[in-house]
Amino acid sequence: MKKKESMYGISKFVAPEFIFGTDSIGYVKRYLKNFSLTSPIVVTDSGLLKAGWANIIFKQLEEINIKYCVFKDITENPKDYEVEEIAKVIRGCNCDSIIAVGGGSVIDAAKAAGIMCTNPGSIRDYEGIDKIVHPMPPIICIPTTCGSSADVSQFAIITNTDEKYKMAIVSKSLIPDISIIDPKTLTTLPKELLIATSLDALTHAVESYVSLGSSPITDMFALKAIKLIFETLPKAARDPKNINYLEDLILASLVAGLAFSNASLGMVHAIAHSIGGYKNIRHGTCNAILLDSIIDFNYAYAAYRYDKISESLGYDLKNLKEEDRKKLLIEDIIDLKNKIGFNITLKDLQLKEGEIDIISRHAVNDPCMLTNPVMPTLEEVKEFIERNI
Ligand SMILES: [Fe+2]
Repeated sequence: MKKKESMYGISKFVAPEFIFGTDSIGYVKRYLKNFSLTSPIVVTDSGLLKAGWANIIFKQLEEINIKYCVFKDITENPKDYEVEEIAKVIRGCNCDSIIAVGGGSVIDAAKAAGIMCTNPGSIRDYEGIDKIVHPMPPIICIPTTCGSSADVSQFAIITNTDEKYKMAIVSKSLIPDISIIDPKTLTTLPKELLIATSLDALTHAVESYVSLGSSPITDMFALKAIKLIFETLPKAARDPKNINYLEDLILASLVAGLAFSNASLGMVHAIAHSIGGYKNIRHGTCNAILLDSIIDFNYAYAAYRYDKISESLGYDLKNLKEEDRKKLLIEDIIDLKNKIGFNITLKDLQLKEGEIDIISRHAVNDPCMLTNPVMPTLEEVKEFIERNI
């Protein structure tokens, strides 16, 4: 009898411990005790301090008599010099751990500062895959947006301010020790950030599903995230304080994060990192601008995977030609953007000839490009951008 072929290849999946649910933010003190941590730094930003979420953490630390340092000067698209500044404070205060309360910028900066606590050189030395040698101090994350998933991922994205692009640092060492995911933190998120970060999560899910690094495990998470975001984001855009919608969006962000952290990403993120770093534009916005036009670019190389996304959204593709199947998914994404009032295009960024050249060069060298269904040449990336401006 002929031996049956295995359905699945070998795949690995890494994820941190996480607590999910409304009011879970109260678990921070319990985990500090569990990990026997005594002198954390709390990394956050001024918006989170104003919204009161950082104060909830401070209060818990005071309840268990723990002294802490605070760093609150993180900006959007966190910069290499900010990472060095946090590391300096950590060393100066003799901190044994890091608590990051915030969105992707705060968590990425905190994780990168963790690298600098135990590894030599500058943060720029760790750009790329698996460059971190020594383990970092324990990191507890409390995400307050529904997009970056930096709280569960192997990625930290930091802007190289000399060359004006975003460096992707990828390593298993960057997975936090615990993520405490409380949907209530989204209730103070401005609507435009709710939309931008949800579109970042959608891009994570789509890119990880068509990624060359995808697996049956990452596929489950990616498809679930796509469905949740298509169903919930239009409703949340109309009613952004509704906790049930926020629960679904932060759940979508979590599962999209688990998918992309393990499957990696693609050309949308490669170009978005490059544009975002050069023009200092919000990450989710860059992704949302590019997502549908890159499906058009990639479709021929991953038609089966893109079609599976459409089928998971309930479409019957049986009698459609390939060109119509591609159009259907692209139009569905454009329709979602219209429904939530997202109407920024690549044209609006007013990229100049010299800028396109620099942006394209950084994009082809971004690690996310390695798992895109097709590896474009520098000329192809330039042509893609020029066609869409
Ligand atoms: Fe992203």
